[in-house]
Amino acid sequence: MSNILSGVFPEASAIPEQFRVSYQEQREYLINGELRQWPGALNAVQSPVFVKEGDHYKQQTIGATPLLTAHEALQALDAAVNAYNLGHGLWPTLSVAERIAHIEKFLELMRKQRDEVVKLLMWEIGKTLKDSEKEFDRTCDYIVDTVKSLKELDRNSAKLVEEQGFMAQIRRVPLGVALCMGPFNYPLNETFSTLIPALIMGNTVVFKPAKYGVLLIRPLLKAFQESFPPGVINVIYGKGRDTVGALMETGKIDVFAFIGTNKGANDLKRLHPKPHRLKSILGLDAKNPAIVLQDADLDQTVSECVAGSLSFNGQRCTALKILFVHKSLVNDFVKRFTTEVAKLKTGMPWDAGVSLTPLPEPGKTDYLRGLVEDARRKGANVINDHGGEINQSFFYPAVLYPVTADMNVYREEQFGPVIPIVPFEKDEEAIQYVVNSNFGQQVSIFGSDSRRIAMYIDMFTNQVGRINVNTQCQRGPDTFPFNGRKDSAEGTLSVADALRVFSIRTLVATKSTEGNKQIISTIIRNRESVFLSTDYIM
Ligand code: G3H
Repeated sequence: MSNILSGVFPEASAIPEQFRVSYQEQREYLINGELRQWPGALNAVQSPVFVKEGDHYKQQTIGATPLLTAHEALQALDAAVNAYNLGHGLWPTLSVAERIAHIEKFLELMRKQRDEVVKLLMWEIGKTLKDSEKEFDRTCDYIVDTVKSLKELDRNSAKLVEEQGFMAQIRRVPLGVALCMGPFNYPLNETFSTLIPALIMGNTVVFKPAKYGVLLIRPLLKAFQESFPPGVINVIYGKGRDTVGALMETGKIDVFAFIGTNKGANDLKRLHPKPHRLKSILGLDAKNPAIVLQDADLDQTVSECVAGSLSFNGQRCTALKILFVHKSLVNDFVKRFTTEVAKLKTGMPWDAGVSLTPLPEPGKTDYLRGLVEDARRKGANVINDHGGEINQSFFYPAVLYPVTADMNVYREEQFGPVIPIVPFEKDEEAIQYVVNSNFGQQVSIFGSDSRRIAMYIDMFTNQVGRINVNTQCQRGPDTFPFNGRKDSAEGTLSVADALRVFSIRTLVATKSTEGNKQIISTIIRNRESVFLSTDYIM
């Protein structure tokens, strides 16, 4: 093993005091407003961080979480169903202003848990301190923006419309019981980007944390308990197949919010007995390409492509997962690209200036090694020093060149630090890759000729959800629509879109006769209805 990786894991004594964690055995889970204690089996939480002990490395087990069964999952569902009470429960009938007050209370309590959640993000999924802090703060901002957006939506609905002799008030109301599941790479942010809109629109929720990044929800359980009426939010733990499958089979889930693989989403959706009653909002697989044209500004392009392919070790659904580089500049590009990759610092999540950290998924380094070996057998080289070297859970980025269509990495979503570079000559080669892909999330085009860029834009508008020009692929700003086509997504999320996704419009309408006008204005003047109201939220 080269020096670059032999020193990557620290001795226990070298971990700064403020970033150390002690083992936590979590037994509590939240159902119907009660933090219940689980007496049964637990799931060990293994950190991607290993500690050096002499000439050995020891993986750190930082805690354990409850391995609940279908029985507890169904109790959580019952609690959510009762709290919704066919739309007559307290939560779905509260006014928008009252629901906002509950969410704001939750946010206040959540902010107090920042240090603990950030620390667990580092230990559970290996995210750098800077990115962990960013994830926490971005999630708080998302909640603030959601409240702002709902106020705006509500203000626009606080009026009657008149059309063709009718008068009506149109408002958004909840859909029912939502099941929210997030991914391990953004276990807080992505999960909350569905959970919060689902709640604020009046749905009740069963929330199951991601595969990894589970303990970090623990500091928020009390905040959930104290901020919402019983049964409105229920948090369960355990294996997906034992818990979530049972929920879907009941047919009582009305909204399925899932960020993960399209295979996982298909398997779960299929279990629901009444597909037409299930609304799904899904963020799934992606293989976003960068297309680097002859006249691209290489400084800017290389910097965007390095960040796009290697932020959080390439473990972002929006990461650049294949780089098509025009033959006329590919030699220069790969030289600069590998030079920049070599500057990225390896280390532990809390190390200052670190970019490359260990990977949380067991077996991931073997999978990535397999991709690299397959590509090498078929003619690609690893063109950067140390590319593909492994130490325990650490995989040093492998830049593969030249990559061709017969290699597995050409189509598979690596979701890790392997960067395939494909040289191309004709525009059609890059265009056809996107057109024929099973995925359709985003694409990045790098160049300076406006006519050529415009041609690519028009080729891709019906293929992907977002076309980035001289910019890496990304989800943010969170007010922009985030979606995908084909196997990449179902539905659109953004701060404002999420409010629509988790609700449906209902209207009260009447013929504009004098008698009806009298009734409507009496209801409004005397505040006799929560729905039919022109109150303006401040
Ligand atoms: O993993 C997918 C995330 O939605 C990506 O978000 O582009 O802000 O990293 P991001």
